[in-house]
Amino acid sequence: MKVLVIGSGAREHALALALARDPQVKEVFAAPGNPGIAQVATCLDVAGSGSDPEAVAALAVRTQVDLVVVGPEAPLVAGVTDAVVARGIPCFGPTARAARLESSKAFAKEVMEAAGVPTARSAVCTTVDAVMEALDHFGAPYVVKDDGLAAGKGVVVTEERTKAFAHAVQCLEREKAPGEDETRVVIEEFLDGPEISLFCLTDGETVVPLAPAQDFKRLGDGGRGPNTGGMGAYTPLDWAPATLTEDVVTRVAEPTIAEMRRRGTPFAGVLYVGLALTSQGLRVVEFNARFGDPETQVVLARLRTSLGGVLLAAARGELADLPPLEWSDDAAVTVVVAARGYPEAPRKGDPIVIGDVGEAQILHAGTREGSDSLVTAGGRVLSVVATGPDLAAARKIAYAAVDAVEIPGSRHRTDIALAAAQNRIALPGQEQE
Ligand code: AMP
Ligand code: GLY
Repeated sequence: MKVLVIGSGAREHALALALARDPQVKEVFAAPGNPGIAQVATCLDVAGSGSDPEAVAALAVRTQVDLVVVGPEAPLVAGVTDAVVARGIPCFGPTARAARLESSKAFAKEVMEAAGVPTARSAVCTTVDAVMEALDHFGAPYVVKDDGLAAGKGVVVTEERTKAFAHAVQCLEREKAPGEDETRVVIEEFLDGPEISLFCLTDGETVVPLAPAQDFKRLGDGGRGPNTGGMGAYTPLDWAPATLTEDVVTRVAEPTIAEMRRRGTPFAGVLYVGLALTSQGLRVVEFNARFGDPETQVVLARLRTSLGGVLLAAARGELADLPPLEWSDDAAVTVVVAARGYPEAPRKGDPIVIGDVGEAQILHAGTREGSDSLVTAGGRVLSVVATGPDLAAARKIAYAAVDAVEIPGSRHRTDIALAAAQNRIALPGQEQE
């Protein structure tokens, strides 16, 4: 089969690489892609960086692909899947209406409530008065979320009421996005406990979970500093309860998928379940309508089953016929190397020098071919991925490769997968629910 991947980040590089290695896949195209993706796929220009539905649909027709795989959320929310499917080409990723599970946090909360999915108690506010009442009601630490898409920067978690209030007001006063009738801010209870990302593939009926991973959202070591798109990830999670995946499928993914079907907006693609394992049991922190970045880089590094076949089955409604997925026993770690100034003001145009990275894989995100070297072109520049017999071994390979990458003023975390490798992750005392 021939596949077109939409996007230009390290997640799409990981997808393109897994597809290029898949014996069932004859040719991989990517639009717009990046210099790293160009090593494994044919990169093509596309209007709107892949978020113009008609442009993507036309490209899918022109390249005669059998499947389109959409990486980021923006094309999904814009309706790329709807346009591709309208041309009779299977597309992995939800329709615009189903992608609301990610694009509106208030909508996601409404669906979770209707489906009986465990999540943080919350209030959706549209006025400053309601914000003040909700902040007092839930108390510190305050959790304040922009209802709309904000590329990982819409959420503020803080002990300081003035900061929480200021962010809430900023969310209410920002310009409305296309199609948004009103700005809203979600204020919710603080969830304590380790976070997990579990990707659930679905064709709208059947749910097939991938291996759980952990993401490191904060910029600095020890979870300090601002939230980012994600600074690193690893899998497997040996510390997680043995029933975790099963629990998430039956208590979260299946009821959510059933509720979306009931509403006449079936969800197909990947339901990204972001969870916290709290003392009260599992709670959903967020849904996304796409693969996570950087978690995909480690999850796909361990997947043995042909990725093209799995994604095509999801797009065609044939997941029930799929044999069980096969996984390598290896551990995988990814460390994100970010540009100087990330996340506030990432510097573009800095030279990137990649030395001897050994067995590690360098996946590109914010890179561009400069006049005489590769240069930075975005906040998260590279994902360095390594596998090994255990997390400690994978970490060693990944960090040796990070040391072989030179970008002036770049930043990365030094503690990705460290606590897990040292068996230092404690689950909060689980009370009976
Ligand atoms: P979200 O975009 O909803 O995933 O939020 C981004 C990050 O903020 C999450 O990965 C958490 O680290 C943190 N966060 C979100 N909601 C909560 C919550 N209710 N309690 C504690 N931390 C949260
Ligand atoms: N790693 C977080 C995300 O993809 O949203």
